Amino acid sequence: MQIDFTGKSVLVTGAVGGIGRTIAHSFAARGAIVFATDILADGLSETVASAAPTNGGTIVARPLDITDFAAVSGLVSEIEGTSNRGQIDIAVHAAGGVKGQTAQFIEDVSSEEWASIFEVNVNGAFNVVKSVTPGMKRESKGEIVIISSPAGLRTSRTGIQSYAMSKAGQIGLVRQLAQELGPFGIRINAVAPGFIASNPDAQKQWNSYGKDGQAALVESIALRRLARPEDIAHAVMFLASDFAGFITGQTVPVNGSP
Ligand SMILES: NC(=O)c1ccc[n+]([C@@H]2O[C@H](COP(=O)([O-])OP(=O)(O)OC[C@H]3O[C@@H](n4cnc5c(N)ncnc54)[C@H](O)[C@@H]3O)[C@@H](O)[C@H]2O)c1
Repeated sequence: MQIDFTGKSVLVTGAVGGIGRTIAHSFAARGAIVFATDILADGLSETVASAAPTNGGTIVARPLDITDFAAVSGLVSEIEGTSNRGQIDIAVHAAGGVKGQTAQFIEDVSSEEWASIFEVNVNGAFNVVKSVTPGMKRESKGEIVIISSPAGLRTSRTGIQSYAMSKAGQIGLVRQLAQELGPFGIRINAVAPGFIASNPDAQKQWNSYGKDGQAALVESIALRRLARPEDIAHAVMFLASDFAGFITGQTVPVNGSP
């Protein structure tokens, strides 16, 4: 199976993080014109500098706060104005995570902490989907992938209530939107990555397990290794490709376990 995105216009949010950056690189390596967005402008320069695009692929950095709807919709309009057919073909929402938080008892969680995780994971997904669907409807085709988490399917190893709620919220949103957008030729799916120490928060979490805890975690995974960002990017590219043309509304765990 050869997956090729030559000439496709791809929006990736969270493209500085370990997962989002690898997704951006993977599309560009298969010919896509990737608009890499993140709130961290410096990190985006590194995303562009470390890319190896082929087949005419390219990466353009666009700093963006995904929680700001006007900014998201403004960027989407700008990209649509420059793309071949005036639309974003594929949108991947990887911005998210726990926003530097660690587990606390629910009575100690502030409203601001609760909301900040929701804002980036769920409102961010809403802002992306709301902005890209009009262009996709004009073309009667579009692919959207949201990076959720097993935390939305079961409980979260992080212990962070707002994170579990947000990841479950993304999965519900994907299911509902698949029903709504299917008649317009737009597919939307989610990926639920296994644990990867791909960001400072996850690295802190990994370190906190200690040697024995780390070994036990790996032992609990059927394929006996942690996920890699490439594993997630491969699943995202499959779901965004025509090979997944009859799959929508699904959440695919990519966690090495049944
Ligand atoms: N790493 C894991 O083990 C793991 C497991 C399951 C799910 N996930 C999910 O995968 C996604 C990517 O994870 P990652 O490990 O690459 O995390 P990460 O923290 O490295 O990446 C998240 C990115 O989102 C960006 N971001 C945060 N707030 C933003 C905002 N307001 N506007 C724009 N960008 C913003 C951050 O700057 C960061 O670059 C997240 O949604 C995370 O919840 C990660």
